[in-house]
Amino acid sequence: MNLQKQRRKRGVILTPQGWQKLQTAKAEAEDCENDGIRYSLEALSFRIGLDSDTLCKVFNRQIGVDRSTLNRCFAAFKLLLDPQDYYRPQPEGETITGLSENIRKIRWDWGEAPESGVFYGRTEELSKLKHWIIEEHSRLVALLGMGGMGKSCIAVKLAREIQDRFELIIWRSISGCSAVNDFIAGLLKFFANDEETNLPETLDGKISRLIQYLREHRCLLVFDNMETILKGCDASYRKNGFCNCLGHYCEGYEGYGELLKRLGETLHQSCVVVTSREKPQEIGLLEGENLAVRYLQVKGLPAAEAQKILMGNGCFSDSPTDYQQVIEFYGGNPLALKLVSRTIQNLFAGNLSEFFKQKPGVFGHIRELLDGHFDRLSHPEKEIINCLSSNCQAASFTELRSQISPNISLSNLMESLESLTDRCLIDKDTPKFIEKGATVFYLQPVVREYAMSR
Ligand SMILES: Nc1ncnc2c1ncn2[C@@H]1O[C@H](COP(=O)(O)OP(=O)(O)O)[C@@H](O)[C@H]1O
Ligand SMILES: [Mg+2]
Repeated sequence: MNLQKQRRKRGVILTPQGWQKLQTAKAEAEDCENDGIRYSLEALSFRIGLDSDTLCKVFNRQIGVDRSTLNRCFAAFKLLLDPQDYYRPQPEGETITGLSENIRKIRWDWGEAPESGVFYGRTEELSKLKHWIIEEHSRLVALLGMGGMGKSCIAVKLAREIQDRFELIIWRSISGCSAVNDFIAGLLKFFANDEETNLPETLDGKISRLIQYLREHRCLLVFDNMETILKGCDASYRKNGFCNCLGHYCEGYEGYGELLKRLGETLHQSCVVVTSREKPQEIGLLEGENLAVRYLQVKGLPAAEAQKILMGNGCFSDSPTDYQQVIEFYGGNPLALKLVSRTIQNLFAGNLSEFFKQKPGVFGHIRELLDGHFDRLSHPEKEIINCLSSNCQAASFTELRSQISPNISLSNLMESLESLTDRCLIDKDTPKFIEKGATVFYLQPVVREYAMSR
């Protein structure tokens, strides 16, 4: 078959940028023309004038389509197709010149990466992350935040947007992961096209071999859900009433700490992105003194984007205050907003004000989400949360100290308060130097409500 024929058969595929353009225009059209309800495949097919099979190919970005098909999709949403919006796929494994025999192909393994679906906002977060990784060559970057805040989604979006800067991309979900020796062995095998037979025996040796690859080639590794191997606070780890286990690893998984430490400390040209609900101790220790190690606290979505989630999931109201109240209550947490939308649709036909009139508080999966965080806390940490929850306003350190049980020593209070901010369970406002005020700590409304009802 000649080359031209082959090309025609492969067609073109949307780039992440083109895909996002189309998704955003579609979401906007849904907001404006379809009461915020997502178009069904049939409705899209009717609107664009293409059959649903072809549309699936366009949106799934796995199989090429004609460029005229993309033109048609874009035109249906009043968009112009730019050359940066699509590319001609290379057959998987096509050779890049200049690479060694061991890694000689553009390769990726997205593992269990969540599918990149509708994604709103986060432009500031993404540009900060890109700056760290591309401009500053950070080697270890952590995305930290409460469950459901969108850490994994940001990591997928980031990886897809910067994938062409790397020779190799690997996504690993750490939950249910094996012992660190097997984990690294799996990575090394992937690097070496399954040809790696002579693996070093020790953990140290395996990490060194991994770093050797990361030095020779620019690779992007994502370790998702790191908190699943971090220790919760069970009674055996409480020392003098304080649990000093935050960011430490569960028994048998300590080697992952060594792995992160070496990846952050040692020179290489790759980047490892970690997502976690809690800050692994290596990130805390290395960040700051070492520009190659960074972390980003992922907070709730701003109101405009959070509202799109509610509307996109079939919730509506005539009053902007209704949206605002629901968004503030759930702290802009995208998962909580999606979960609550389902209930609002099921029980209140999507009517936000009807739902809010019931003062529903914390329920269902949102309670389970918070249970997951709270069950891991030490006694002093729980005391601080209780104290802040009975005090609706934010409290400074001095105010907290005067209100908290005298059984909790000053050092316990300081350590626990720091660990709660690292666990992303309390927020703080630090005044600018010129204001000379004190830092104040507070809970998001949903966390306060949850703590009060426990
Ligand atoms: N920026 C966003 N726009 C739209 N939906 C989002 C966004 N961020 C997260 N979500 C949705 O919220 C849910 C939780 O996101 P996820 O990335 O899994 O959170 P985390 O990793 O912090 O626990 C997912 O269903 C995801 O689709
Ligand atoms: Mg996640």
